[in-house]
Amino acid sequence: MDQVSALAIAESAAYRPAILNTGHFPMITAQNATDIQVWQKLNPQLSISNGVSPGTEIAEIGADKAGFDGGALSERFWDEGYFLIHDVLAAGELEKLRSGIEVLVANGLPPALIYLYDEAWDVFRRLRPLLTHFLGDRIALLPHFWAWHVDPDADGSGWPPHRDYQGESTIGDEMLISLSLWVPLSNATPENGCMHVLPRNFEKGYPAPVSEPGEVRLQDIRALPAKPGAVMGWRQDLYHWGGRASPYAFEPRISLSLEFQNAAFDPLADQLLGLDHPPVFLDRLALIAKQFEKYRHMQSMDAETLKWANDVVDACATINHMQ
Ligand SMILES: [Fe+2]
Repeated sequence: MDQVSALAIAESAAYRPAILNTGHFPMITAQNATDIQVWQKLNPQLSISNGVSPGTEIAEIGADKAGFDGGALSERFWDEGYFLIHDVLAAGELEKLRSGIEVLVANGLPPALIYLYDEAWDVFRRLRPLLTHFLGDRIALLPHFWAWHVDPDADGSGWPPHRDYQGESTIGDEMLISLSLWVPLSNATPENGCMHVLPRNFEKGYPAPVSEPGEVRLQDIRALPAKPGAVMGWRQDLYHWGGRASPYAFEPRISLSLEFQNAAFDPLADQLLGLDHPPVFLDRLALIAKQFEKYRHMQSMDAETLKWANDVVDACATINHMQ
């Protein structure tokens, strides 16, 4: 597909049904997906560096530049289990990513493919000072990431209530082993399915940790609206979920998430990634495609999409074996 037709579809799509349940076969075949040019043409406003260091320096956010107040964040984080910082990321880069996801969706492709592009990884590279504040100097990316396009016109919803990691994500109430970050690319509101949490200090008062949603007291639920530029983070044992979008919502909830760990601790996954060096193109593609099988219990997914993702994994493996 050429650039013009891809963008034309994006502009005329006006938010199609939830991407992973469209019933439409993705418009890029699994074999074509291994061609880097296909993706560069699809989203020419974004780049795929493919192992070469990105040409532009990443401007990191910093406490000394009014980026965030580490002390206040820590206090809330260790009490309530999460933090939410507003207006910390530049809107321009986020807008490019938002349009990238809209183009993917318009082409029948899952939003998670946005991680093919450098700019999606750059968002989190910019947040290194924040990550260092919570995880120390040795930060590794966990190969657990996803992107959402929660569509108000298709009864869209975020993921159901869950904890990102069932095991120990902290040592006591002082040292963090792993952390989840979440970044909105559109206005996330209670109307379009923003994030919700059960604050940890509330859950501590329960007779036992919540094991199913019905055990959450309704008044303890906290909706966390956030605009592009905000960053949310939570300890991985925090009970959280995305809401369901109203058909009257003005825009889809579009967002990214990525998980991190303090690399001084034993790896929490088979493969840890470096913050400064996103995988080369084919590895990125295979890594993204592998997320589908992993998250099928969290995200309704039609059989065609799942088959497409598995075919992409196979196509990447075939090429890597030939090289
Ligand atoms: Fe989660």
